[in-house]
Amino acid sequence: MVKLDTKIVAFHKVTSAHYNLLLTADPSKEIVDSYLDRAYKFELINCGKLLGVILLIDTRPKTVEIVNIAVDESVQNQGLGEKLLHFALNWAKEQYYSTVEIGTGSTSFAQLYLYQKCGFRVTNIDRNFFVDNYPEPIIENKLVLKDMIRLKKSI
Ligand code: ACO
Ligand code: ACO
Repeated sequence: MVKLDTKIVAFHKVTSAHYNLLLTADPSKEIVDSYLDRAYKFELINCGKLLGVILLIDTRPKTVEIVNIAVDESVQNQGLGEKLLHFALNWAKEQYYSTVEIGTGSTSFAQLYLYQKCGFRVTNIDRNFFVDNYPEPIIENKLVLKDMIRLKKSI
């Protein structure tokens, strides 16, 4: 189990350890690079070790989107993803945003569970998003990923 002395702080310099995590949430380095510079970037550190990241970008007025969330595989399913989401929601509220959005694959069952557990509601579907934007087919939970489910939460 992860010890309780975890902290979530902003970071600016992106290291290869950050990239390794970011690419587990989004397999295209090109797409990660397209939002990395302009993203609000936070990292979850435990005993000096990087265990998670969460990135947000401005989309529409008073709206911010979580574009990347990842927790190190060795410590998944211990509540750290939920902790990062709650941190991002609180941070957005403090910055006077009114809506937080997030998108994930239609085959991402665990992520869909977690986001709805944190209060996000499904708004629409980007059909063929992963077919149109990624060079290689993505297989997840034994299915070919095609569509993106978009969710949002009013804060
Ligand atoms: N079906 C349903 N629920 C599941 C499944 C499943 N197959 N697998 C796990 N869960 C549940 C767990 O039981 C847990 O719920 P509980 O706490 O109520 O028991 C929950 O999912 C996971 O919650 P956390 O432990 O808080 O989350 P975790 O620390 O594992 O982080 C995350 C979640 C970030 C999605 C992590 O799994 C990860 O990094 N995955 C790889 C990268 C990724 O897919 N990122 C998201 C892409 S979308 C985006 O970035 C916007
Ligand atoms: N996450 C991801 N996959 C899961 C989960 C889960 N939490 N739980 C089970 N599965 C997988 C199983 O592993 C299996 O996949 P696999 O064969 O690739 O391993 C698959 O889901 C289930 O497939 P089957 O065994 O063919 O289906 P089953 O005989 O269980 O019937 C049904 C499915 C009809 C949904 C049954 O569970 C049921 O009667 N549920 C209650 C009623 C219901 O919900 N009906 C559907 C409502 S919608 C409607 O009626 C239009």
